[in-house]
Amino acid sequence: MVCLQNERAGGAGRGGGLLQRLLGLPFEPADIHLTTGGFTAIPLALKAVADPGDEVIFTLPPWFFYEPLAIEAGLVPVKIRCDAETFDVDLAALGAAITPRTRVVIVNTPNNPTGRIYPPSLLKDLADMLEGASRSNGRRVYLLSDEPYNRIVYDGARFHSPAEYYPYTLLAYSYGKTHLAPGQRIGYLALPPTMPDRGPLREALTALQMAMGWIYPNALLQYALPRLEQFSIDVAELQRKRDLMVDALTGMGYQVTRPDGAFYLFVRTPADDDEQFTAALADRDVFVLPGTLFETPGYFRISLTASEDMIQRGLPVFAAAIQHARGTARQ
Ligand SMILES: Cc1ncc(COP(=O)(O)O)c(C=O)c1O
Repeated sequence: MVCLQNERAGGAGRGGGLLQRLLGLPFEPADIHLTTGGFTAIPLALKAVADPGDEVIFTLPPWFFYEPLAIEAGLVPVKIRCDAETFDVDLAALGAAITPRTRVVIVNTPNNPTGRIYPPSLLKDLADMLEGASRSNGRRVYLLSDEPYNRIVYDGARFHSPAEYYPYTLLAYSYGKTHLAPGQRIGYLALPPTMPDRGPLREALTALQMAMGWIYPNALLQYALPRLEQFSIDVAELQRKRDLMVDALTGMGYQVTRPDGAFYLFVRTPADDDEQFTAALADRDVFVLPGTLFETPGYFRISLTASEDMIQRGLPVFAAAIQHARGTARQ
């Protein structure tokens, strides 16, 4: 078994210190379970705390794998729409969706695809709501904070994790975003030091990591972890690309919210059919995802990981597309 306290193995012991610097919580090394990215940290969390048939709530638009991961874990996905104006978790909708079978609420901040970072006031209200629901259900409702973009934050803002506000939070992280290297499978699931009586959960996680097929990153990546912690994608460059795209698209007439973090823009399509709209862009070599893929028709998602040159070549295509949609394109 991988020994997470072993300093020679590199990362996890220091990972506690790094998490502490990021979130201000003194995570213990034994509470950081290295995984093959967020992709396995999420089902690991779900399987550790939920029983078959339990409900898992998440917001739309979602990262599109929450639903299959929940179903594969034998759980029932329950979807609520985010606030259409702010892209925040709609707490009224969440309150209405909670039932006695609710076991996990997944939140993703900074959010894929909206780029929203949930503010501390919202996280505090969310924590109060889950505390109340746990009390009235007579059974704990856990929060799964999926935060692979927690270091991709703009405008010098400080990221706040839900784990700072709700002790029954499982924190899923992946290095795949920070390093823009999704093929290198390394991440972790962490339990905050504020979670009471977490010994049995720690043990369940260790047993599950083996039962789920030894879902640890390979040894080389574990040894590399202290070095991996020292670099990241160029966030300042991403921010420049964000501003370039948001300003240009807004100038063309698109409705786009400037994201707080992550590396996506979630934009309203000027035409009703987002699949047709994105297919027309693809015909001109501009590749974006339709909102329908995120169960949110009428939007499309742009990735800011495109190079600046690609962005400059894409802008006239976006301009022509909105003109065409408005029926003003010159023939
Ligand atoms: C919100 C979110 N969670 C989890 C993941 C999974 O990350 P990884 O593929 O690095 O495991 C992704 C990847 O796109 C994501 O966007």
